[in-house]
Amino acid sequence: MKTIIEPFRIKSVEPIYFNTKEQRTEILQNACYNPFLIHANEVLIDLLTDSGTSAMSSNQWAGIMQGDESYAGSSSFFRFEKTIQELTGMPLVIPTHQGRAAEKILFSILGGKGKYFVSNTLFDTTRANIEYSGAEGVDLVCEEGKHPSIPAPFKGNMDVLALKKFIAEKGAANIPLCIITVTNNSGGGQPVSMQNIREVKAVCKANQIPLFIDACRFAENAYFIKLREEGYADRSVPDIVHELFSYAEGCTMSAKKDAFANIGGFLAMRDEALAQQCRNLLIMTEGFPTYGGLAGRDLEAIAIGLTEVMDEHYLQYRIRSIEYISNKLIAAGVPVMQPAGGHAIYIDAKAFLPHIPVEQYPGQALVGALYVHGGIRGVEIGSLMFGKYDEQHKLVPAKLELVRLAIPRRVYTQSHIDYVSEVIIEVFEERKKIKGLIITEEAPMLRHFTAKLKPIE
Ligand code: F0G
Repeated sequence: MKTIIEPFRIKSVEPIYFNTKEQRTEILQNACYNPFLIHANEVLIDLLTDSGTSAMSSNQWAGIMQGDESYAGSSSFFRFEKTIQELTGMPLVIPTHQGRAAEKILFSILGGKGKYFVSNTLFDTTRANIEYSGAEGVDLVCEEGKHPSIPAPFKGNMDVLALKKFIAEKGAANIPLCIITVTNNSGGGQPVSMQNIREVKAVCKANQIPLFIDACRFAENAYFIKLREEGYADRSVPDIVHELFSYAEGCTMSAKKDAFANIGGFLAMRDEALAQQCRNLLIMTEGFPTYGGLAGRDLEAIAIGLTEVMDEHYLQYRIRSIEYISNKLIAAGVPVMQPAGGHAIYIDAKAFLPHIPVEQYPGQALVGALYVHGGIRGVEIGSLMFGKYDEQHKLVPAKLELVRLAIPRRVYTQSHIDYVSEVIIEVFEERKKIKGLIITEEAPMLRHFTAKLKPIE
């Protein structure tokens, strides 16, 4: 088999600013060991997120010029609406400025004290919006999804038995929604199988619980279904996407992922009464329902991106490029989540740094080491992000201590990726020198964005 090439040519480039290890040591210290506080031009390869960091296509840029900026009834909205209706089969489409704005609206309406939202795994902003409403978020990922080093084709699946048990325990009336996140970002970017979605849907239907999809990475998930699930090899990606959405009553979407847009999101659903409530809130917080916090040009870029992302040459390259770096790391003995996910490499920081206890945030320590050694910026998905405190202010750690290196879409080439794996392998060889961290300052919610830390000497 020949090399799978990037299915695009590059027309416009951005410089990378180089700095030295000594400079980065100082930069990290000034940023209080939090990568979110580092300036982007001090990063060589920025793998903090795949969100809003895509390179748009020349077609999307052309769409930007065609944006209709009318306050009400913009033609760009109708193009956006039609694209999403065709993609999801859902008739009611509500634009928002990003994914969490869609979540905020949805959970403000459906949430509240005494309610439970069940999921394979809720993303951090989704969970925060649920908890802010007074409700509880419950993650019920399948057993395979809890073990980073054991490969399985669909580690993002929901545990259907646990779902049934949970409903029996809490009562269906207290569960306003079940949410399946595709792919399962916080659980390693792992896909969910169509069979699992079908089974979850059956349980939800029997209990009259609506099923929503957190659809940020729907195309990547659909491509995994095509590759790995029996009966889908010959189905087209749009066809698989259609089937996936057909089981859901609605979805939230961040267009900053699988729509190649730098900003944007939406809610789509089938229930007119719920949509009306959402639109009422939207007008208060985001804007009129035909723009929802976005410019007309953004709506154009999203509509075009949603079509482009289903191109199978693109998806083959995308999924393969993540697998490529993953294979290199596995060959060098670096503990990574297996198999590779759809948008990122997840390093198992607990296994990488066994000398650092979870109370000293091994994930965050590894993030710092990768930055200092090679200027690579990643993000901790572990106890800094998801840890809680018990009544004695003792850390209740997250299930996994991961470091995510998310690959922006259509941005980096194979040599960038080769460089990244070389840096990780070098850091792995010197891992015993890495020290744990303590928190010196933190916010009560979503603390990882702003927390300040320092190394334990
Ligand atoms: N759901 C999932 C699964 C996500 O990954 C994200 C964002 C959101 C919802 C919220 O969307 O950012 O547009 O408000 N994930 C980004 C990330 C931030 O880095 O994984 P948003």
